[in-house]
Amino acid sequence: VSVPAIDHDALDVDLLAPETIANPYPALARLREQAPVHFSERYHSWLVSGYAECHGAHTDPRISSDRITPVLRRLEQRGAAPELLEVFCVLSRWMVFKDGADHRRVRGLVSLAFTPRAVARIAGQVQEIADAVVAAAAGEERLDLVAGIAAALPARVIAVLLGVPEGDRDRFEAWSDEISPLVFSDLGDERRHERAAVGMGELVEFLGAAVERAREQPGEDLISGLVVAQEGSDALTDAEVVGMCTLLLFAGHETTTNLIGSSLLALIAHPDQRARLEREPALIEPAIEEFLRFDGPARISVRIVGEDLELGGRRLRAGERVYLLLNAANRDPARFAAPDRLDIGRDPNPHLGFGFGPHYCLGASLARLEARTVIPRALERLGPLELDGPLSWHPSLLGRSLTALPVRRR
Ligand code: HEM
Repeated sequence: VSVPAIDHDALDVDLLAPETIANPYPALARLREQAPVHFSERYHSWLVSGYAECHGAHTDPRISSDRITPVLRRLEQRGAAPELLEVFCVLSRWMVFKDGADHRRVRGLVSLAFTPRAVARIAGQVQEIADAVVAAAAGEERLDLVAGIAAALPARVIAVLLGVPEGDRDRFEAWSDEISPLVFSDLGDERRHERAAVGMGELVEFLGAAVERAREQPGEDLISGLVVAQEGSDALTDAEVVGMCTLLLFAGHETTTNLIGSSLLALIAHPDQRARLEREPALIEPAIEEFLRFDGPARISVRIVGEDLELGGRRLRAGERVYLLLNAANRDPARFAAPDRLDIGRDPNPHLGFGFGPHYCLGASLARLEARTVIPRALERLGPLELDGPLSWHPSLLGRSLTALPVRRR
């Protein structure tokens, strides 16, 4: 019996190497084939690249989502600046970093306000924003679809959802841009932290005032909904509502920009699929699921092992870090037929692009609404498109994000 040799190069995947950032899928496939659960010395973390293992890890109560408390403790020990500690205090209230009953409590209360109805209520405004964005872009013969379309929509939509007044929206979007590198990149760079701390302080102050106004006179917006949400005698505190709003802004801004960008790129790179979508517009819904699977915005969800456990035949010990490689799982041939093929009609499509289990993306319906509103409108108004220059991607560990998508209209 011959035992296949272990390919050590395949195991030592460098997720930030320029060629891996440009196209991560060959390296992820080699890693998954060699070891769907592998301890990476480079990242001091477990890399989980198999679909079954990644899926299972999302619902395993021994795997914790709280990767903020350890960082906060380290910063406290090092005597970090108070503004920086304040950023991490805000982050530590985000439900995406909570486990078990704490998480269920906040998610339950937030779900009372952030309902499909609350999303449906702003559908008309999303359409108006999308129309205006596409109309502005349609004046150009050569344009960048990231700046012109993908980045122009999501922060504005979240501002509408939260009820941020028209006159404050530019400031609101600027804070988001200042703080997001902290949230989406490696949590180790202190200079980035300090820059973000200032923006976070201003944003928290702004949201605090909005929460006070909503307490006095609740309206139809989501901040009001969060303020009044009640389960028995339990309700969110003002600090929790503010924390939740900052989470919604970050969770729903860059990710949705990146989905719109990578969807447009996928359609430009696969003209047959674009033609199919134009022939059958109803395919937009499965198409968006396929864009999430094929090259989704969330590359990695980070976890910490809470209790020793076995995963994919490997022994994981309490305290170790785990990277759930969603994009690798989403191309696992054991789960998806012809995983490297873009098929906008793929059905079923149990991708992990919005995560899975208790932390499944709360904003999935909003992200889908934005994507299915703006993508068909952009295709229709802009007509045939071809790439106009090389692609470049942010060298981000956690997110998959085009810096620009230069195109020429034909
Ligand atoms: C295409 C766009 C989006 C993608 C790819 C995405 C992806 C994800 C993923 C993978 C998770 C799970 C994280 C984990 O398990 O650790 C998540 C959670 C979350 N997302 Fe999204 N998201 C998107 C858009 C949005 C939007 C628009 C909002 C809201 C405005 C939002 C709000 C949230 C929240 C609040 C959570 C935390 C849920 C919890 O911890 O229970 N997301 N998202």
